[in-house]
Amino acid sequence: MNIKKITTALAISGTLLGFSGEVFAQNARIKIDLDRKIGEVDKKIYGNFVEHLGRCVYGGIYDLGNPLSDENGFRLDVLEAVQGLNVTLTRYPGGNFVSNYNWLDGVGPKEDRPARLELAWNRLESNQFGTNEFMDYAKLMDTEPYFAVNLGTGTIQEAQHWVEYTNVESGPYYAELRKKHGYEKPHKITYWGLGNEMDGPWQMGHLNAEDYAKKAREAGKLMKLTDPSIKLVAAGSSNFYPGSNPMAWNKTVIDELKNVVDYLALHMYVGNVDDNYYAFVASPLVLEERTKLVSGIIDEAMSRADRGDRDPIYIAWDEYNIWYRWRSSETMSGDIALEERYNLEDALVISSFLNAFIRNADVVKIANMAQLVNVIAPIFTNENGLFLQTIYHPLALFAQHAHGTSLDVFVDSEKYDTGSFALGLGEQRADLKDVPFLDVSATVLGDELIINVVNRHKDKAITTDILAIEGEFTGDFEVFEVNGPDIKAMNDFGKTNVDTKTKTLKGKGEKVTYAFPAHSFTMIKAKIKQ
Ligand code: AHR
Repeated sequence: MNIKKITTALAISGTLLGFSGEVFAQNARIKIDLDRKIGEVDKKIYGNFVEHLGRCVYGGIYDLGNPLSDENGFRLDVLEAVQGLNVTLTRYPGGNFVSNYNWLDGVGPKEDRPARLELAWNRLESNQFGTNEFMDYAKLMDTEPYFAVNLGTGTIQEAQHWVEYTNVESGPYYAELRKKHGYEKPHKITYWGLGNEMDGPWQMGHLNAEDYAKKAREAGKLMKLTDPSIKLVAAGSSNFYPGSNPMAWNKTVIDELKNVVDYLALHMYVGNVDDNYYAFVASPLVLEERTKLVSGIIDEAMSRADRGDRDPIYIAWDEYNIWYRWRSSETMSGDIALEERYNLEDALVISSFLNAFIRNADVVKIANMAQLVNVIAPIFTNENGLFLQTIYHPLALFAQHAHGTSLDVFVDSEKYDTGSFALGLGEQRADLKDVPFLDVSATVLGDELIINVVNRHKDKAITTDILAIEGEFTGDFEVFEVNGPDIKAMNDFGKTNVDTKTKTLKGKGEKVTYAFPAHSFTMIKAKIKQ
């Protein structure tokens, strides 16, 4: 790491909001200007994802017979933890799984449901949990459902039948079938994904961009004829593997579907494979670069589109997370359970992903952490209980507080270059220049200002002047800090090393000064008036 521009003078003025510890020799600035608006933060960026994979459904949210579960099999301790995340939108049932899923296998009397060989993750799918169980759970979670249809082995007609089953009041066969299954009222699912990662050779029924666009257009047509109110999400590409050209895929798909779909789905997983902390905590900036690239492609296509009064196509980062270590599980056989255990540096990366979504609030309108429980997830269970992983805490804070309008914040902090580094599994590499030690986003709702700050510095706090341009801070500050003893600190059953600490501080006027502790995520909640 090459640290630039070290300043030796340490000037603190204004109100220093209490801190004791080692302070980095720099004075950073964050300028908040309420007139510099990026866009409305869509609450759907606080989404999550439930896939039939490992112990996400079975042994995660659903565990029939476990004393911790209710009579429907829903684990109540898990539900309570899930509710703490305020999950606004939940994607289901996959993922790679969906590309060999026949939704009809998962409805109707449980004893009649077939067990199937599930080829995405090489397991037996019992189908004891399906559409209606998910919708019951979605109600308890208070989340909006987002279904993905099978455009791999599935047909466009199966996709249409699913919309008929879930969304049509009564009359046609599948709407009546739902009623026969005990669901008199339609589920009214608005968000529908047209397949999953169809660009990837690993995907069952993998297609090239032209063939995918044709299939997606026809599936979308039938689905929309069934319920015109639904919103469609096309499968984009963010899979950079040797020989791939994800932006060419995105260009073709957006061009072909520019009048049809509402969102383009992108995915991103990062990992600290080389144990290179500073590169790893900067890696969400790559997501931001890709957001800008895709946004440009969308803008160009929108200039030629004929969408009437519909919104432009927005970006849905409908899978994002850290995924590179544990593939196995202590309680499952096989090596594809994806039971990552997260540490503090992972929590900082998640905070920066969320900052990136907020900084791009004008174009990113959906984001789903992958996944909700056990499988690369913020909540981790065994049959006796659960613990909250490190990444749970920033996600909960953002979802609970960071709403309203995203502000274009000016940040002046020391910077570093990462050099070339491995972005995660696979062969993707990145090389980031001028990475600020402070990663910042802000939202304003009424007179409530939220400032989200990741201090990427591993060892030092960074004192920072926070300046209100043409306004002033008017009272108490609530400060939430996600931190732990060191960057590798993890949580476990009965052991919490990383969580959120809250404090209230006083500060008034145009400027306050705060020392952001080393390797921390801090959310500051302030009142501001213009
Ligand atoms: O979230 C795990 C998997 O990652 C999903 O099934 C797939 O879409 C992606 O490759």
